[in-house]
Amino acid sequence: MESTRNRLIELLETSDKQFVSGQFLSEKLKISRSAIWKHMKELEKDGYHVEGVSRKGYRIVKFPDKVSENTIQWGLRTGWLGKKIIHKTSTTTTQQIAHQAAQENAEHGTIVIADEQTKGKGRMNRQWDSTKGKGIWMSIILRPNFLPVMAPQLTLLSATVLADVIAEHTALTPKIKWPNDILISDQKTAGILTEMQAEQDQIQYVVIGLGINVNQITEDFDKEIQDKATSLHIQTGHQWNIKDFIQHVLQSFENSYDSFMQNGFPDVKYKWESYGYRIGEQIKIKTLHKEWKAKFLGIAEDGALLTKTENDEIKKIYSGEIEWFMGRESENAK
Ligand code: BTN
Repeated sequence: MESTRNRLIELLETSDKQFVSGQFLSEKLKISRSAIWKHMKELEKDGYHVEGVSRKGYRIVKFPDKVSENTIQWGLRTGWLGKKIIHKTSTTTTQQIAHQAAQENAEHGTIVIADEQTKGKGRMNRQWDSTKGKGIWMSIILRPNFLPVMAPQLTLLSATVLADVIAEHTALTPKIKWPNDILISDQKTAGILTEMQAEQDQIQYVVIGLGINVNQITEDFDKEIQDKATSLHIQTGHQWNIKDFIQHVLQSFENSYDSFMQNGFPDVKYKWESYGYRIGEQIKIKTLHKEWKAKFLGIAEDGALLTKTENDEIKKIYSGEIEWFMGRESENAK
């Protein structure tokens, strides 16, 4: 059913606003003309405006802005990412739906996307504001064939993808704050939450949760984070088309992932550092039990945070929070 509809959209789209006859569609899709008509009604529910004229046929006069499985897939130029899409108008968190789908064997590249999350999750058990229709709340299921210790590299890769897409799509200048906060003008505009199911040396699946603040106004954010969070709309004054943005993210993600699988981490490291926030500065590192000062050098070949301690020792850090000094008020992630 679903693939017939996609094929139908494809046939209408390739005709470039010309009418396509019901007869032609019914022969191509091997379904009756009344079935074609029913599909047209479904497309209208998805926000397509379809014009039907007797003896001429059908044509799409307006493509929808709204997000749905069909609208994301239409015109999506990917080979494997987003071939299966689970779209919810509202859900607790797309992470949970993605875990469930992965445990039920969802294929590599399946995405779960919601217009709204009522229990959006951030890193360190923080909540993630996910206002309806104002941002991208999406989880990607991946089944990479490498060791679990390499999974954090995927998070860093995801951060470079979001930074690239934001830069290309909006001409803003994003920065990546270690490990994976995307900042614009020092305020957070996107975040990544990576979760993994693995057994010893084998990854069963990874769920990469991407949250991008697109069209929020300041009042859409909780009071406590209004000075720390921002959106692309706040930064540019423009209302961005969410569906176009999702497609851009998926296309760019697939390219970067494929090249990472072929060439390894060096390109990701280079790109990450080109977006890196305040590299070379003095930082404070905090883990559960201790905190110390160091210089932030960049990221290591394996994706760890690379630092130089006060005793000039080079030290790699795999988890924790960092804060900066240097005359600016010390600050923290959202
Ligand atoms: C962070 O910076 O703390 C990570 C934020 C990750 C948010 C995304 S939105 C889609 C997915 N579902 C969630 O509940 N969280 C992630």
